[in-house]
Amino acid sequence: MTNVLVTGGAGYIGSHACKALSKAGYTPVTYDNLSTGWEDAVKFGPFEKGCLTDRARLDQIFAAYQPQAVMHFAALSQVGESMREPGLYWHNNVAGSLCLMQAAVAAGCLDLVFSSTCATYGDQDNVLLDEGCAQYPINAYGASKRAIEDMLRDFEAAYGLRHVIFRYFNVAGADPEAEVGEFHQPETHLIPLMLDAIDGKRDALTIFGTDYDTPDGTCIRDYVHVCDLVEAHVLGLNWLKEGRGSRVFNLGTGTGFSVREVIEQSAAVTNRAVPIVEGPRRPGDCTRLVSGSTGATADLGWQPGRSTLTQMIGDAWRWHQSGHYAK
Ligand code: UFG
Repeated sequence: MTNVLVTGGAGYIGSHACKALSKAGYTPVTYDNLSTGWEDAVKFGPFEKGCLTDRARLDQIFAAYQPQAVMHFAALSQVGESMREPGLYWHNNVAGSLCLMQAAVAAGCLDLVFSSTCATYGDQDNVLLDEGCAQYPINAYGASKRAIEDMLRDFEAAYGLRHVIFRYFNVAGADPEAEVGEFHQPETHLIPLMLDAIDGKRDALTIFGTDYDTPDGTCIRDYVHVCDLVEAHVLGLNWLKEGRGSRVFNLGTGTGFSVREVIEQSAAVTNRAVPIVEGPRRPGDCTRLVSGSTGATADLGWQPGRSTLTQMIGDAWRWHQSGHYAK
């Protein structure tokens, strides 16, 4: 079996990636400090606890498992928190990724798949974003991810570290078999917060801003099913294995939905009312983030077939209602 080191494998996207890797015949080795992940989400391969900034521990892991590649998910990812505490983001995301990349190069593990974000593009109103767009992040989270992209390019030029960078749009949904799912503490994402409100676990969902320059005044996002997203990662890994070179791919569907549209669809899928209140804008939020790229489909062969709002909300709802949700 071929080992793949999965940083952040105990988190939402990382745990789904571990399942996809194991289905594809790889052994995912999770490396996670459990600061935002959950040990019981590690179900598809070995677990090693550790921080990205702990070089000695990373050297030990590379020596013990001899991974063929790294999938690097581990990161802090809350836009609002990154505005209040940017130092956390530069330390954990940027310094942590630097340490990981240095350890990978030292170990001769030269294929890396990296989780980046459409937040690196910033607020480019009414533009469909493709990989060639300029990157002007408006929050420290996006800035930290853009810096890591820059480091990857330098590391390739100097040390031959090949990489596939995936710029995610809004990841949603859960494993349809509900083996793993989304559970953040605290939760900040629209769909799980809405399901909590529907379920009476919180009073209401607050809509952050109703005065945006969009048809219904609320922000527009491009939602992609987490299972589609991680399938792209397996394709990205195979792309590197085949020696096809470093690449950047957006992972979005090209269709945007407003916050109000997501609320309406959630009411329809769950057949329940969504209690809402209208609030002010949230700092750091972009008006509209929608992918304008078909590169992943054309070149990687990616087919985001599960990324309908109905399926994403339905799978998230099933996970929400499963026993796993209550920690
Ligand atoms: N929203 C609300 N109320 C809430 C939560 C969210 O109205 O209680 C709105 C937000 O303002 C935004 C939309 O719902 O317009 C989606 O918000 P999320 O927090 O679910 O997602 P974000 O778009 O803020 O962030 C996500 C990821 C980031 C990534 C970003 C890129 O969490 O890591 O997508 O857009 F950088």
